[in-house]
Amino acid sequence: MANINILKNGPYQIQGDLKIKDGDGNPVDCSEKVFLCRCGQTSNTPFCDGSHKAANFKG
Ligand code: FES
Repeated sequence: MANINILKNGPYQIQGDLKIKDGDGNPVDCSEKVFLCRCGQTSNTPFCDGSHKAANFKG
């Protein structure tokens, strides 16, 4: 089971037994807790790299 939290003005925080695949179906290394970008500004897709702060992302 995984828990998903939407962080105010930031990423999705996902915690649990995770299996993430890229657009080609290849597994992406991840730990039991990840932060996925939802602002579209990250340089480390699909993970949040903190760029949402400089982008002043609201959501
Ligand atoms: S949500 Fe953090 S870089 Fe996009």
